[in-house]
Amino acid sequence: MPHRPAARSGPGPGPAPAPGSPAPGGTGTEAPLLEVSGLSVQFGRVRAVTDAGFCVRPGEFLGIVGESGSGKSVTARAVLGLLPSHARVSGSITFRGEELVGAGARRLRALRGGEIGLVFQDALAALDPVYTVGDQLVEALLAHRPMSRARARERAAELLNEVRIPRPRECLDRYPHQLSGGQRQRVVIATALIADPDLIIADEPTTALDVTVQGEVLDLLSSICEQRAAAVVLITHDLAVVAETCDQVAVFYGGIVAEAGPALPLFDEPRHPYTRALLRALPRLGDPTPFEAIPGTPLQVVGRLDSCPFAPRCVRAADDCLDGVPAERVLDERRHRCLHSLEASP
Ligand SMILES: Nc1ncnc2c1ncn2[C@@H]1O[C@H](COP(=O)(O)OP(=O)(O)OP(=O)(O)O)[C@@H](O)[C@H]1O
Ligand SMILES: [Mg+2]
Repeated sequence: MPHRPAARSGPGPGPAPAPGSPAPGGTGTEAPLLEVSGLSVQFGRVRAVTDAGFCVRPGEFLGIVGESGSGKSVTARAVLGLLPSHARVSGSITFRGEELVGAGARRLRALRGGEIGLVFQDALAALDPVYTVGDQLVEALLAHRPMSRARARERAAELLNEVRIPRPRECLDRYPHQLSGGQRQRVVIATALIADPDLIIADEPTTALDVTVQGEVLDLLSSICEQRAAAVVLITHDLAVVAETCDQVAVFYGGIVAEAGPALPLFDEPRHPYTRALLRALPRLGDPTPFEAIPGTPLQVVGRLDSCPFAPRCVRAADDCLDGVPAERVLDERRHRCLHSLEASP
């Protein structure tokens, strides 16, 4: 379960009622830092994301979870302006109230690596193999703010220390290939911190790492979130990771946000049958109950999405689930899209 308090700042992520209107959850005390509402993304006939919405408040840790192909990375790339030019994007993404859908390439570039830090899965690809860690950090620091080279090197060592790299000064003189996978990912996180971002988006940052190192990197992200009061959006297909780390959760399925809300109640009493199925598919240490795989395979939505995307695999599906994408329902700071959700069961 999350070791950070859930719902510290009011209602959390959730789809908005209509594109362009404020996302629900806007009644919280703090204005959202990132607000996604009515977001849809299409690649030709492939509908990667449909009417998705969530918001992240300052200092909040949001986990986006869902099976492969559910639209997690496309959503992150839409926020960062990193979708290929053939992607058709509609809806609204605001960062501190500034609309990013349709924003200029220069502004989006300034946000990335500026107020928004990025951490992707492949740390080796994110680092330049022909420069030392120190050179890469120093150049990035100098590009961000004028300072002497000596001061930049000092700051680079401080950042490596912050991301818990042992002997940070020695690490400055190493090349990426001389570091372990976990250390490389820490260097990437240090790079993401250069401009003191208010938001860090991490897409599967630990997938390539072994389990112990995964835990350390997640713990690091969690402590950065707390100590810097930076918000973090962590994308993963691993619900157990989200359960341990996040305040807020958004569960994606077939490009929609099936369910979203504060982590603790969402895990204790899932409302969407897909969330419950995901939880039941988790192996539990010391629990003799066999874990249950979700029958069927995830779908790729081609053409219009005109039914609940989970219906073909859902044990609670009924005829009305095929009558369009279920409208979002909001209850107690939580939201879900299901006509036969679990809190309604007798
Ligand atoms: N550049 C692209 N061109 C065409 N289709 C794409 C493109 N990028 C993503 N898609 C499609 O969009 C859908 C969502 O993909 P996305 O990468 O967001 O999934 P994901 O949830 O991140 O999955 P994973 O857990 O495997 O990373 C998929 O059906 C994918 O095939
Ligand atoms: Mg992905």
